Amino acid sequence: MLGVIILAAGKGTRMKSDLPKVMHKIAGKMMIDHIIDLVQKLSCNQIVVVSSPFLIQHYRNTAVDFAIQEKPLGTAHAVQCGIDKLDSKITHVLILCGDTPLMTLNTIKNLTESDHDLTVLGMILPDCELHKGYGRFIVQDNTLQAIVEMKDASDIQKKISLANAGVYFGTVAAFKACLPSITNRNESNEYYLTDCVQYAHQKGFSVGYQQCLFEETVGVNSRHDQAYAESIMQDRLRLFHMENGATLLDPKTVYFQTDTKIGKDVIIYPHVVFGKNVVVDDHVTIYDHCHLSSCHLMKTSKVGPFAHLRDDVILHPKAEVGNFVELKKTILYEGAKVKHLTYLGDAEVGAKANIGAGTVTCNYNGYIKQKTIIKDGAFIGAQSTLIAPVRIGSGAMVAAGSTITQDVQDQSLAIARTPQVEKKDWVIGFKEKYQV
Ligand code: UD1
Ligand code: MG
Repeated sequence: MLGVIILAAGKGTRMKSDLPKVMHKIAGKMMIDHIIDLVQKLSCNQIVVVSSPFLIQHYRNTAVDFAIQEKPLGTAHAVQCGIDKLDSKITHVLILCGDTPLMTLNTIKNLTESDHDLTVLGMILPDCELHKGYGRFIVQDNTLQAIVEMKDASDIQKKISLANAGVYFGTVAAFKACLPSITNRNESNEYYLTDCVQYAHQKGFSVGYQQCLFEETVGVNSRHDQAYAESIMQDRLRLFHMENGATLLDPKTVYFQTDTKIGKDVIIYPHVVFGKNVVVDDHVTIYDHCHLSSCHLMKTSKVGPFAHLRDDVILHPKAEVGNFVELKKTILYEGAKVKHLTYLGDAEVGAKANIGAGTVTCNYNGYIKQKTIIKDGAFIGAQSTLIAPVRIGSGAMVAAGSTITQDVQDQSLAIARTPQVEKKDWVIGFKEKYQV
């Protein structure tokens, strides 16, 4: 039976943040959730998150058990806290860090198929000088003998490019036998989990190692690491959506969340940012410079350039949203058009209705939000102000420049603006007055 321990109780000092490190996000998802979601795809029987008292104050997840590590005395001590929480039926344990959000399923699956009592995941560092934070593998005769942390490494050991990814798999028995032997006699005065390799040898357990790509192992310890991990994750997401049939005209400028859903034959122009919870159906076009969150763009709808959709927006097929339009909690039914300079909030726009340039729904009176309903085929003239709650009937027209405060019946015309007054030759008299 497989148990998983996720180490997440570290201080995360280098993030310089009020938030626990593992709660920082990559592609819109907390790092800890990246790891939990990943291990949930393995058929494991229990997941234990080793948490600090600080993390547990902020983070909840009912899918996992928590083990509290009162003080961050080191990774070995953290694992001991996790092991104590494991169900007695668990025979094997996979240990990961909560700050490595780029780990992949294939890699951890392979690791959990190892027959050794203890197997550690390693990777080749592309640049030993640059990546100083990783422990180094001491390998002799193809066997992992020990792991040396950089602070404790000799000059020769510091040049070893095979490094520790911080992911371990082994029998609970091996960990239980080795952990009590680990001391904190090292440069950091911490109990290093890495020391379990040498004790496993001493106690007659078999030790192995596997390798994965460096980019999977990127550990986020600072804001700089976070930005690096984000860029790798974004590249993965861009590739994923292109492989699924979306065209990205300039992929590097499009930012996804892990939950973004994109259909096929979707065309995405440069500089588009997806926030949380966006679903884009087939054959949708998103022009440049759009920010979309919590919305559903149904097939053949069009958005942008320069549009902002947020908080429950639904575009039905053939609906169109143009430049400098903000939609909030708004539904556009089939073929409705909102093409220029408009704010619609808490609104429904019927099929084939047309919203003129500069239309604004006044949905908020400073206390509550109220609805604007525009029925099928209605026509709202440019620069109209619709003061909610208000309903514009089907096929009705609102004259340009109107301020609408009352419902408009089906097929009626509403004009709510000051009638034009023309004063003949008034300008001549005005000029004479001031040119005396
Ligand atoms: C650790 C490894 C290093 C490896 C690197 C990979 C040790 C001693 N070093 O270094 O060999 O190359 O990961 O990323 O293990 N944590 C706790 N409690 C603690 C200390 C840490 O839960 O007392 C957690 C942290 O929250 C983090 C993880 O363990 O998620 C790793 O700790 P961190 O301080 O990031 O270790 P590294 O210096 O990265
Ligand atoms: Mg780390």
